[in-house]
Order: sequence, then C-alpha cells, then structure tokens
Amino acid sequence: MATPLRTCVRCQIDNLQATGKRRLSQSIANVRRQYVRVPSQLVSRRVYSDSTTNSRELSAGPKITLDQITEQLGVAKPRIITQTQPRYAGEITGSEHETEPELTDEEFRRLHPGLGSLTPWSFPLDDSCKTIDTLNDTNIGEKVKVRGWLYQSKPGNTAIVFATILQGGKFIQVIFDKNAGFEAPHKVLTIRAHTPVEIEGTLQYKPRKGSKFTTNAGEPSVPEDVENFHRTLEIVASRYEIIGNPPTEPIIAGTAHTGDKRYISMRTSTDLLKALHLRNKVSQICRKHLDEEGFLEVETPLLFKSTPEGAREFLVPTRTPGQMYALPQSPQQYKQILMAGGILKYFQLAKCFRDEDLRADRQPEFTQLDLEMGFVDGTTVQKTVERLLKRIWYEVLGVKLPAFRVMSYNFAITNYGTDKPDTRYQMTIRPFERIIEQNSPLSRTPVYGDWKYEIITHPCNISNSRLGLIASQIASPTDGDLAALRGPNPDCIMFKNGEELDYPAIRKQLLRIAPHLKAEPLDLERIIGAMASKNLLPANNIIMIGRRKKEFNPGGSTSLGELRKQLCQKLIKLGFMEKLVGWKFLWVTHFPLFTPINPLENEPGQSGTAGYKSTHHPFTAPTVSTRENLMNLPWKTLGHHYDVVLNGVELGGGSTRIHEAELQRTILEDILKVPAEKMKTFQHLLDMLETGCPPHAGLALGFDRLVAILAGRDSIREVIAFPKNNRGQDLVVDSPGLVTKKQLDEYGIMLKDNVLEGQEGPVLLAEDEAATMELAKDSEANIVEEVEVAASRISAVPGIGESVLADTAEKTVVPGKLDMLLGEKNEVEEEVKVLVEEAVVKTEETIIVEDSVSTSEPVVEISGEAAQEVVQQSLVTPKPELEEAKVSETEEVKVEGLEESKAEKVEDREVEGSIEVKEERSIEKKVEETEEVEVVKEAKPEEVKPEEANPEEAKPEEAKAVEGDKKPE
Ligand code: AMO
Repeated sequence: MATPLRTCVRCQIDNLQATGKRRLSQSIANVRRQYVRVPSQLVSRRVYSDSTTNSRELSAGPKITLDQITEQLGVAKPRIITQTQPRYAGEITGSEHETEPELTDEEFRRLHPGLGSLTPWSFPLDDSCKTIDTLNDTNIGEKVKVRGWLYQSKPGNTAIVFATILQGGKFIQVIFDKNAGFEAPHKVLTIRAHTPVEIEGTLQYKPRKGSKFTTNAGEPSVPEDVENFHRTLEIVASRYEIIGNPPTEPIIAGTAHTGDKRYISMRTSTDLLKALHLRNKVSQICRKHLDEEGFLEVETPLLFKSTPEGAREFLVPTRTPGQMYALPQSPQQYKQILMAGGILKYFQLAKCFRDEDLRADRQPEFTQLDLEMGFVDGTTVQKTVERLLKRIWYEVLGVKLPAFRVMSYNFAITNYGTDKPDTRYQMTIRPFERIIEQNSPLSRTPVYGDWKYEIITHPCNISNSRLGLIASQIASPTDGDLAALRGPNPDCIMFKNGEELDYPAIRKQLLRIAPHLKAEPLDLERIIGAMASKNLLPANNIIMIGRRKKEFNPGGSTSLGELRKQLCQKLIKLGFMEKLVGWKFLWVTHFPLFTPINPLENEPGQSGTAGYKSTHHPFTAPTVSTRENLMNLPWKTLGHHYDVVLNGVELGGGSTRIHEAELQRTILEDILKVPAEKMKTFQHLLDMLETGCPPHAGLALGFDRLVAILAGRDSIREVIAFPKNNRGQDLVVDSPGLVTKKQLDEYGIMLKDNVLEGQEGPVLLAEDEAATMELAKDSEANIVEEVEVAASRISAVPGIGESVLADTAEKTVVPGKLDMLLGEKNEVEEEVKVLVEEAVVKTEETIIVEDSVSTSEPVVEISGEAAQEVVQQSLVTPKPELEEAKVSETEEVKVEGLEESKAEKVEDREVEGSIEVKEERSIEKKVEETEEVEVVKEAKPEEVKPEEANPEEAKPEEAKAVEGDKKPE
C-alpha cells in the first residue's frame, strides 16, 4: 500500500543506517522482496532526497544515498518530484519551479489497485508540532505548527475562511486569509470534516470582534463544545497539508454516534475525554497515596479458576479437555494469599469479571481499587480508605469531607429501606405494625404477624393526577429494580392525602397490602383512626405504605425503600423537590452474614444446599458476639463487613477475614453446605490458612463507580473507554463473537444448545477462512441463514434496564384514573387483585410451616404459585424454630447487639476525625445545623409520639455516632 511503502522505505533507511553493513545487505534484500513493485511516482520529495536535506526528514548521522538504495533494491531511481501545484484541492506547495504533473488519485488507483489512495502525506512527521493545549501567550507572533482534525470550515467573506482544528478534545480557530498571503482560501472548504491535517501559521490573539465563527448566513457559531474552544488565540495559516485520508462517509458535527463508533465520540465528545482524564487523575492519586502509606502494588492473575465465591463467572477453556480457567470476580483469594505471603499492605487497580445482569452501575468487566492489609482488622482498613477518599475529594473537587457516618445494616433497612441509603434527603421510614396489632383482637394478629408495616409521609404540593402518573411510571414493567412493586403482590401503595382524611380511599389502599383486614372492617376503621392520631396520615402529604417480612430479610432493599428512591428521583425531575447536592458518605456495617437464596432465581452463591449464601463472600468473619449463632441460627449471625456508601451508591465493600482454617471450613462445609467437589476448589485457601495466617482485612472500591460519581455521570459506561452495552457486547469490536467449529474442536467443546435450525449436531457458528470456502461450496445460503438466526437469537435476548430513570421515561396514562396508588386501574381490577393477594397469602401460609421441633434450616421466603412447586419439592426445608427463636432471639440478640454496639463505639472513637461518642450530646445541635454528620434516632414503634412521628422535624433525644443497635433482621 502506498502509505506503508513510504513509511517503510524511510524507516528502513534509518534502520539500515543504524545497523551496520552485514545486516544492511540482508535488510535491503528484504525491502526489495517486499516492494519489488515500487512505483517510482510514489517516492516523493519529502520521503527522501539524494543530496539536499529537508528539514523535516533526516536525522543526523551517516546517510545512504538514493543511488545506493535504488541499486540495492534493484529498482529504477525514482523521479524527484518537486511539488509545484496542489495534488489535491487546497494544498499549498510553496514551490517555485515547475516539473511534470502528478498522477491523479484516480490514475493512481487504476494503476495500483489495492494500494489505497494517492495520499499526499508522508513520514516522518517532525516533532516540532505543538499540541493545542500548550499554545499560550508566550507563543504569540511565533510560527506554530499543529496537527489535528479539520473539524469545521466556514466562509467568512470572499477572502477569508475560518476553520477549527480539533485535537485531543481541544479546538482552535484557524484563519485562511487571502489578504494575509494565503492563496485560494476557499479550497479549504472542500476538505471533508474530520480529515487529519497539519497547519502552519502565526499565532495571534483573536481580535475581539470580527473573528467570530460565522455561518453562511452570517450568524455567529462556535464548535459545539464551546467550553474547550480556545477563546483567545487563533492561527493565521500560511500552509496546510493533509496527512491522512478524509473519512469515507461524512461525519456530521454534533450528531450522536452509535456504540460501534465510540472512537468518534471520544474524538469529538470532550465529555468522554474529560472522564478519561479524570479517571487517570484519580488512579494517580490512589497510587500516590497508597504508595505513601506503604502499600505495594501487586498484580494478580487473570487466569484464575472456578470457585463458588458468589458471582457467576466467565470461563476460559483450555486445550486440555475439561480444564478451564475462570476470570476472577475479584482478586479476593489471591490477596488473602498475599497476606500469608507477608505482603503487609497490598493494593491493585484490578480488572474483575462477573457474569451478572447489567445496569447503569454494573459492567461484566470492571475495575476495582482493591486493597488488603495484614495483621490488622477492618477498623484500620476503614480508616485507611476514609483517608484515601478524603484526599481524592480534596484533590479532585477541592472538598474537605467530614468524618464518615456509621450505621448498621439494620438501621439502614429500618429507616431507609435499603443497605445503601442516600441520606441527602429525608423521607425516612416509620413502622406502624404495632398500630395494626393494637387495633385488632389478639386472635387475628397471627394472620399478619409475620409482616412489618411501614410508612413514609412526604409533604408535597403535587396533584393527585400527577402523582398517579408518577406511580404508573414507577410501576412500569421496564423498571428493572422495581419489578417487586408490580405483580399480584406488590407490597407497596402510594397515594396523596388531601386536606381531610379520605377514609374510603385510604381504606381501599390499605386493603391492597393488608387484605386480611377486609374481613374486619371495624379493625380497618380503628387502624386508620389510630394512624391519623399518630400523625401518620398528615394532610397534603404523599403517603407511601409498604410491608415486608419480619424474618430473614433477603437482600439490599425493601419495596418501600425502592419506592422512596424512585419517588425522590421523579419529584426532582418534575421540580417538586430540590436537586440533591452534597456528599453523604456512610459506613454501613454489621450485615447479616448470610442471605437466603431465592429459589426462583438462579443465583450462583456458593452452590451450597443450605438455602442461603454468604451475603458478601464466604471469607468474611462473623462478629465476635454473634459467632455462636453460626451453628443453630446462622441467619442471626452478623458479619464483620463494611460497605462504604456515597449518596445512595455502594462505592465499595470489605471485611475482616476469617483467618482460621477450622472456622473457614465449618462455614463452607457445615453451614453453607458446599458440596464436596466444590469444597476442593477452596483447598488452596484452607491450606494457606493452616500455615500461620495473620489476621487480615481489606476492601475494594468500585473504581468505575468512584470516577462516575466524581464526574457527575449517571452510568459507569460514561467513564469507561470501551464499555459493554446492556447485552454485554462491545460494539466497537463486535464482541463477543461466534467461533468456528474448528476452534471449538480444539478445546474439545461441543455446543449443546447451539444447534441451529435445520441442523443436527453442533454446527459452524462463524466462518473462518478455510471453513467458509469449504462450506460455500456446499451451501452458502444455508450458512448465511444460520448465522443470521444465531445473530437474531443473540439480539432477541431482552436487554436489561439501562439507567432506571432512562427506562421510566414518560409514558402516557389516562390522567385522573391513576390518581391514587400504584398501578390502580378500576374497581373491578382492584377486586380481582385483592382476591389474588388473598390467595397468595394463603399459599404462603401453607408454605411456611411453623414447626418448633423441626430442623434449624431457615425459611426460604417465596410467594405466589410459581413458588409452590419449588417448595413442594423442598418441603423438607421447614421453618426455623420460630417460636423458640422469638423468645430467645429478643433476649440473646438484643443483648449481643448492645455489646456489639459498645465495641463499635470504641472502634469508632479511633476513626480519625470521627466524633467522640462522649461528645455526642454537645455536638448534637451543631450536627443538625451543618448536616455534615447526621445523627438519627431510631424510632421506637411501640411509642410513636406525635413529634417522633415525623423525625424530619423531631430532635433526637439521644444522638449516636454508631446507629442502629437493633436486633438483626
Ligand atoms: P464487592 O463484590 O462488594 O467486594 O465489590 C466491591 C465493589 O466493586 C464494585 N462492583 C462493580 N462495579 C461495576 N460493575 C460491577 N459488576 C460491580 N460489582 C461490584 C462495587 C462494589 O462495592 N472482594 C470483595 C472486596 C473485599 O472483600 O475486599 C469484593 O469484590 O462498587
């Protein structure tokens, strides 16, 4: 091809000069073999010269003459072209004497098919060029040379053309002015946007007036990214040169580019470039900080093996049949092994891989800032991470962060309905199941005794119909996270209370989540009355009521917690709430060590048969005070785990690790009931723990999330150079790709389900060269069809919701109909739903068998008919000793919880900059004022006083630095 030819000749001349005679002859022979068809016309003046020197081409040192080269190459000596006239529109040559005319591009292509175009550009490109961002006042009046893309060109008047050059996300204006000696400036207009060019000219200040970009209509116009436009300087061009082919298809400025053209977005969208620069900055700060703190950066393997750590893995086959690597879901096990290896402080910007549902804050391939410390526990790690985050916020945003607030998982769930609360807004949750119990005869309470009823009230001047619209959007099926709010048993209602209590309407709402009250209208009236008297149904408030199971709360958030989050986003969007500002960092601690596995979801977990999985990973140590629950009430065991949460996003998580082989084995084998063959995959870890492993703890920050938050982006995709889309595809390179049967054979893999239509047995999925030719003979049409079918199958996989907000984009609903409650349509539907809900409740009643003498296996919460089948099969998994537990757990766990909290408070005092517990009372007022550290008092359900009923206004009696010392869920 034309370009490499020139490049190679030049480079090889240089090489030949550098490498002595013997290699010279070999190399020249190679050059000759490779370029035996050197078209003499191709060798331009700029490539090399036999006698005269050209400033931009030759470096110092011994020269080989053109005669020597052509003699060795055995080709005719090329003509030396002195370029005198433009070889393409607008080129300025500056030559004084004429020689023969050049080949046109068309002629060249005809003569040399396959060698590309006759691009009039050549190497080497000298290094005297400036980058746009380095041009400044000191260069005024100087001749400068810049390279970049010609981004836009527009006529000023008959003698002037204005253009912008884009490079590295920066723009500068260039003026082609006939009056300044530039011949035929209008030829610049013929160059297609996004053509790489070199510009030479004089740098000057941009005159205040008259230098504005003007369109043909004379209107001012600047490049779309005005922020990065060099506002004060411009170049008055004396020459330009095209140094790369123009784009084949026009690239229109300001258009959104699809995922497969991400590099165009990168080139033109300074947003993306800025994000990548920020990413670089943050990683530099992390490295610097951790280095200063004595951490060692250690790379761990990416070819790991499959172990049931928690997430679903990506497997990598090898050519040894059955032997596969797995890509690490995190470097967790390696970093623990490093601790046994005596690395006291490890860190790494680690690539992690998880085959899980993708969302705005999840990628199958993502980066963690991973760290681990030996001979310490989690407190030291928390302090270290807090210091690091404070430094990042200071260096990137200039913000000084206060000490991070600490709250237990239980407190977070109870007050915010999530384990990652956004405490920038209130809308705190208050319980009211006591009201239900107190207002119903004792005989009826067991019916709903398993449920906690909770309420959020939020003063808002929104109309009923508007709220109905929001409700319908929140409950839309595309909401991903909010699927829980839909279906026959949504567990949540929302309505707007007017000036006066609307008994019938409230009754109707309540019945949706407490259908048993339908049979007891008296109870219902009493309950509504009691709620009103406790200020739980204030006028002109949005009322959200949710219910959740008291026992064994599975996972990150409740339906009410989700509703709280979604409603907040909607109200902000519609202008009913102020935009959320500030940085609310939290440590959420004391998670349940285990989480029930939902039998309806094919969750990976640890592959154990116990009915639950580790909430984080199975290497997290239980807290000292709940450790003895492990054997009998494992779901009552709390973990030495801590998540760092920022503005409702889980930024990172870590824990103090188990460092005793015996305990680790017990948790895996006896509690999680990991099958024997899977246990083997942990053998290396157990062996390591048996070699005198030190106590250790660590944490990993989601690096993409960290950068996205700092950059103010909604999705982590916006801060990743090559992210995967919702289907896990990278459209730029079109991965993942189909492979050939030949490749599969090499790995001994046979595809079971990928038998394409009309085929028996595994088929070729994508053509490789040989196979294509072979198969083309047989049935070309067939294969095309098959590949298309495969492709359509892939594209038929439903995408997982993007950013929830994006997915909940406005939908049309009939105003007025949805004025109260989520998804309400009409009376008839309502009735049907109630019936369905009743049926579900009954189903659940029969499923959850209270059996105080049964095994201590936990209850697995399931609901609905679909669950029934699963449960029928596993009815041997009875409910835990609920009755017993109810008595003992309140005593035991509450006491333990208190002990635990004392321990936490002691730890907390040590956290740098954190508030001393003893100072709590004195700082309480200040805290309320500054809101730097929020101190929230737990609401006690049994005594909801009017002023407590709305904690947003109520003053806490007793402030706590560590909150939520409640019994576990
Ligand atoms: P964890 O699984 O909590 O802990 O992950 C730590 C942090 O990594 C980020 N993260 C993700 N970011 C983008 N896409 C994903 N799919 C994704 N999954 C997780 C989150 C999360 O808080 N080995 C443990 C850490 C430890 O115990 O030291 C771990 O990986 O921000």
